[in-house]
Amino acid sequence: MSGGSPVATGDPSGVSGATIAVYSVKGGVGKTTFAANMAWCSAHVSGHPTLLWDLDAAGGSGFLYGLEPRGSRPAEDVFSRERSPERLIQKTAYPRIDLLPADESIRSLDAHLTAIGKKRRLAKLTGALAQDYARVILDCPPVINELSAQIVRAADLIIVPLPPSPLSSRALDLVVREIAGNTRRHPPILPVLSMLDMRRTLHREVKAQHPNWPCVPYASAIEQCAVQHKPVGEIASQSPAARAFANLWAAIEKKLAERRG
Ligand SMILES: Nc1ncnc2c1ncn2[C@@H]1O[C@H](COP(=O)(O)OP(=O)(O)O)[C@@H](O)[C@H]1O
Ligand SMILES: [Mg+2]
Repeated sequence: MSGGSPVATGDPSGVSGATIAVYSVKGGVGKTTFAANMAWCSAHVSGHPTLLWDLDAAGGSGFLYGLEPRGSRPAEDVFSRERSPERLIQKTAYPRIDLLPADESIRSLDAHLTAIGKKRRLAKLTGALAQDYARVILDCPPVINELSAQIVRAADLIIVPLPPSPLSSRALDLVVREIAGNTRRHPPILPVLSMLDMRRTLHREVKAQHPNWPCVPYASAIEQCAVQHKPVGEIASQSPAARAFANLWAAIEKKLAERRG
């Protein structure tokens, strides 16, 4: 568990807390979309008290939940001044889903983390948050730096969204190399095909090459998340996209259970 996370309070399943990072070295691959929708599945499907932690200065996760950072509460202070994250956490419109929003201050986080020199600062924070949240989901920026190294140390599982392309395997190799290079025992990595369009030959070929990777379809219901500021489960609960996210969530919980087993 992240930083030796204790058992989460209020979690109906009684299992201990886990940190799930949605990470890639690339932007625009679906990280924020996955993170926001996985948080909804965690709370809604599994009934977990869930924290969605936006670590990207672009602030996409908050946007998808219709939330803006409140006032002048620099997100970066949580790291550099050891300020408690609790005062930054916002309630979303949905039960059991809270948000720790990003803001512009996060842009300097990497330099601060390097200067502080505490390699497990993020892992300690997620470990402490696991007392209140059964699942902490990290929406990560597309970087290879001290922050990504800390993310790898904090995570119990890393989800890597990969748009179907002959470059998918190479992109995954790059991520795996980065993750493996940062720690002796890195967390399991779950590659997921993102924006899959089975009308396209290339996408069908990539899917056939990786039959065991979970996949999320290219879907207008998913595009609508950013328009309506709601997760897919709220917009189109019976859609193939909602089912795909529910299946992905089941795969995540299975991986976490295997890790414990
Ligand atoms: N499965 C999908 N179907 C349709 N649009 C998608 C899908 N996944 C992501 N998008 C869109 O692609 C863009 C990039 O997604 P985003 O989650 O912000 O990527 P990242 O966080 O990796 O930069 C967004 O406009 C998002 O709405
Ligand atoms: Mg993003």
